[in-house]
Amino acid sequence: TKRTAISAESSTQQNKAKDLRAVLQSYSKSDRTKDFLRDALLNNDFMKNLETDQIMSIVDCMYPLEHKVGSLIIKEGDVGNLLYIMEEGTVEVSKLSKVLTTMGPGRVFGELAILYNCTRTASIKALSNCKLWAINRQTFQAIMMKAGMQKQAEHLELMKNIKSFEKLREDILSKIADTLDEVSYADGEYIVRQGAKGDTFYIVSKGRAQITEAKSKWDAPVYIRHLERGESFGEPALQSEETRPFNVIADDSNGVTCLVLDRQSYREMIANELSRLKREESFKYPRRNIDDERDLKNLRL
Ligand code: CMP
Repeated sequence: TKRTAISAESSTQQNKAKDLRAVLQSYSKSDRTKDFLRDALLNNDFMKNLETDQIMSIVDCMYPLEHKVGSLIIKEGDVGNLLYIMEEGTVEVSKLSKVLTTMGPGRVFGELAILYNCTRTASIKALSNCKLWAINRQTFQAIMMKAGMQKQAEHLELMKNIKSFEKLREDILSKIADTLDEVSYADGEYIVRQGAKGDTFYIVSKGRAQITEAKSKWDAPVYIRHLERGESFGEPALQSEETRPFNVIADDSNGVTCLVLDRQSYREMIANELSRLKREESFKYPRRNIDDERDLKNLRL
């Protein structure tokens, strides 16, 4: 469609966000129906790990449809376009004409072709008149993409306060923001241990963690201070192997989430930038001047 073409060509984040909003048409439904659809998604092994926001957006964009008894809702081997949740009725699942099982209200089906971009893995036939809710692939993917963009924007915001990243161009920061892993820690769990070797850098993105430090290996660790959202630690580990100078321990009853970057990924991204800069420079200035040398050092490879 025209809209897809536009979204593929849009280069700015804002345009992409606008295009996504246009695809995400919501259909009104009662609170009871919303709860029912949410619970169905949370009961499905392949959908339950989506973020709450994503689940709620899927629920919002689902629309009702009906299939008469005997109709083939999904044909094995077809390219799939819809993901369904059954509200009323019974369906039969079969593979290579062999019946595998029947399913009733509250079940999600047709999720595999949408999630994994594969053809339909089984056929699904209505054994009674069925009331269903559906969402199409394009909308589903837009929801996934929107969540990804929101995450990336949040990561970028947090990264902009980090000293090591100050000199980096926005597009490189974006690349790093995409690479950051979100890791969760339970209350009391050690995020890093004093004395351990490390090659990872952390930004606290949710909750609080406490720093403790033992003056020597015979001393008990003492409390230093808390780290809040946006604060980071382990930065030297991006340059060379770091022996952690203190403990960082999750200290939040709701757990702590950190954005984690390892040295190798960091170097790969900066290294590309460095060779690009070198290429540009040898083109622009056959002899490098002193500013260029300083710029290269600032990239800290
Ligand atoms: P999809 O492959 O998109 O389309 C057929 C659907 O049947 C599939 O997603 C699942 O939702 C469902 N399905 C596939 N295999 C089984 C099975 N063994 N038991 C129950 N449901 C299945």
